[in-house]
Amino acid sequence: MNLKGRNFITLLDFTPQEIGHLIDLSLKLKQEKKEGKAHRHLEGKNIVLLFQKDSTRTRCAFEVGALDLGMGVTYLGPSGSQMGKKESVKDTARVLGRMYDGIEFRGYLHSDVEQLAEHGGVPVWNGLTDMYHPTQILADFLTVKENFGKLEGIKFSYVGDARNNMGNSLMIGSAKMGLHFTAVAPRELWPDASLVEHCREIAKETGATITLTEDTIAGTKDADVIYTDVWVSMGEPKDVWHSRIKQLSDYQVDKAMMDNASKNAIFMHCLPAFHGIDTEIGIQIANEFKEEHPRVKNGEMEVTDEVIESPQSVVFEEAENRMHTIKAVMLATMSDSYE
Ligand code: CP
Ligand code: NVA
Repeated sequence: MNLKGRNFITLLDFTPQEIGHLIDLSLKLKQEKKEGKAHRHLEGKNIVLLFQKDSTRTRCAFEVGALDLGMGVTYLGPSGSQMGKKESVKDTARVLGRMYDGIEFRGYLHSDVEQLAEHGGVPVWNGLTDMYHPTQILADFLTVKENFGKLEGIKFSYVGDARNNMGNSLMIGSAKMGLHFTAVAPRELWPDASLVEHCREIAKETGATITLTEDTIAGTKDADVIYTDVWVSMGEPKDVWHSRIKQLSDYQVDKAMMDNASKNAIFMHCLPAFHGIDTEIGIQIANEFKEEHPRVKNGEMEVTDEVIESPQSVVFEEAENRMHTIKAVMLATMSDSYE
């Protein structure tokens, strides 16, 4: 398996074997790190992280992963570079590609990360766009594999905004790796029909199934994994909260939903999650909507505090796995001699 020089923009570009290799490599790197065994395979190289949107996990995963691999890192935040303001994405790519050995991008337009990849001349990694969040899926699937020992045949229910970057990417990942993916969402928040069609084509080869339903009970029955994400994603206008709460409050993951899933089901969330009134937005939303939508009165939106704090919740293992999987992506795309 040689992925040297490849970009990591969407899982659509990777075969099930390649995705499986990245997950296995992550596990190896995770074990080495736990054993205190250094893996500075990329000493002397440098990468740049371009963030148009905020981040905790993705930024830290790239930074710690790069440092563990022996690399230098530059972080350019939402207001820290000329890109988009005085300089085009194409020019930025041609400049950064001459100084760095790899470029991470988090932003709005998926076409921006594609342009960076086209003109950078070095591996480009997608740290989230409005359309896809592929590094997250590797961490999620590593977590599923650690919990169930396999990916194939897992019943995976994604509940909430199924046409955002997470809904799209989990559906693609599931199709590639043979999971039974169910999007549980109101019809207007189902993924784009052409992407569903594409995933169903992939699924024919892998044994996966792709189901879309509005029914929260049928859609989560006996599921191995219940997964959700924020109801309003970064970059969406604030006034969308009103309609989104209305559309999704019946899709909140609560104990009754977890009880409807399999006895050994796990709860997953890419994080950050709204499950209480300990964030600025959580307080604002709870105050504004508590009369109209009692379910959100305590700042609990996509998931209740009870579920995310329960033993079934693996969200922090999942968050840790961001680092091991992102490290694997950098290593595999920058080197062919790490075995
Ligand atoms: N899950 C995730 O991408 O988190 P951050 O926004 O903190 O990077
Ligand atoms: N859908 C979320 C994912 C955050 C990791 C967003 O784009 O804000």
